[in-house]
Amino acid sequence: MIGIPGSGWYWSVAVPAGLPGLLSSMTTPSPLRQATSLFQSRFASRPAVAASAPGRVNLLGEHTDYNGGPVLPFAIERRVVVVASQADEWLAVSAVDGQLESFDPGGSGSSRWTDFPRAAVRVMRGFGLRIPGAHLAVASALPVGAGLSSSAALSLASVRALALLAGLKLSLPDLVEIAWRAEHDELGVPCGRMDQTVVAHGVRGNALLIECATGQIERVPLPGKVWIFDTGTTHRLAESDYPRRRQECAQALVVVQERGIAVRTLAELSVAQLSQLSGWLPPPLDRRTRHVVTETARTRAAAKALAGHDLTALGRLMVEGHQSLRDDFQSSTIEADLIVESVMLRGGLGARLTGAGWGGAVVALIPEQWESRIVAEVRADFKAAAGRELPAWAARASAGVRREQVVSELG
Ligand code: GLA
Repeated sequence: MIGIPGSGWYWSVAVPAGLPGLLSSMTTPSPLRQATSLFQSRFASRPAVAASAPGRVNLLGEHTDYNGGPVLPFAIERRVVVVASQADEWLAVSAVDGQLESFDPGGSGSSRWTDFPRAAVRVMRGFGLRIPGAHLAVASALPVGAGLSSSAALSLASVRALALLAGLKLSLPDLVEIAWRAEHDELGVPCGRMDQTVVAHGVRGNALLIECATGQIERVPLPGKVWIFDTGTTHRLAESDYPRRRQECAQALVVVQERGIAVRTLAELSVAQLSQLSGWLPPPLDRRTRHVVTETARTRAAAKALAGHDLTALGRLMVEGHQSLRDDFQSSTIEADLIVESVMLRGGLGARLTGAGWGGAVVALIPEQWESRIVAEVRADFKAAAGRELPAWAARASAGVRREQVVSELG
């Protein structure tokens, strides 16, 4: 436990181009075996350590994390695996292309996937931790650009593997802090802390209600499955309108504070205060604020609904959340709107765009007894409208970042 202090969360504008093009075609039932066999074929030895980290789905609470509000995500079963051994140099290989890449933690970024472990090493060394050189191999069962946090998973798995190699005992908050700073400070990705937090703290069978202003985490049992529809429109955080939305939220907060309302974040405003505010906030700041404030209320209500097994109420809140993203935050896409509409038309309980938006995935609550019919109909509706297949799979709440047992592929 090294007790890394939290930092402020302002976004920086330096955006690494083309990140991450790394794991795009990675789909395998056993990324651990894949990473290990890749390591052995490239480095002619068995890796010393292995770590994995999951992707995540957010049930509700979008764009609330950097506004001091709550989020309700869960870690999914699909994971990124990093295996590693100590070395005198830095060499890495990913299962996407099998190419051996060298990188220099002391140098600048390359806009390649290796920027994630490189940034992690820089942050860890910045905290005074002794991190030796390493050989790394990476494999993943998570699609990239689907809004399921593949980059946070890669960062967390890298940090965990490097800590294991260095013999460091880091707490989960430490891992979150390092991974977040690596992406945010080193790579200039203007993210909040939701993804790193849930990817680290995920618990099997539970969603997490994370209060981002305080860091408080409450488990909310989520025994069933949730459906994920991949819109196929790629989402890349740094290249989307995400940085602009962060700026708009920051501007709205300044206006509100200048009017004498004593709040530190937009999420502290109440729904009742919104009508008063709309006269002061110019468009589009009024809509952005309305999204954050209503989403904050919806997320806390959703956690209560889930805890009380009221899936009908949860589903309704999800649809309201989607409408708010579509109309007020303007982060939805035609494909996501279409899928949400189809899920509801076909008998689903709720659906919404999950993650940052501008592409990515839709998460849906579908009654189990009708799921095969409903999923088939939604996929057919999408194919008829968009002219292409709609990948869909069921996800269950899974564990966060963890050490894995190294398996030997050499026999
Ligand atoms: C991305 C960011 C998160 C969060 C979501 C939107 O996933 O990494 O910090 O802001 O978008 O809710």
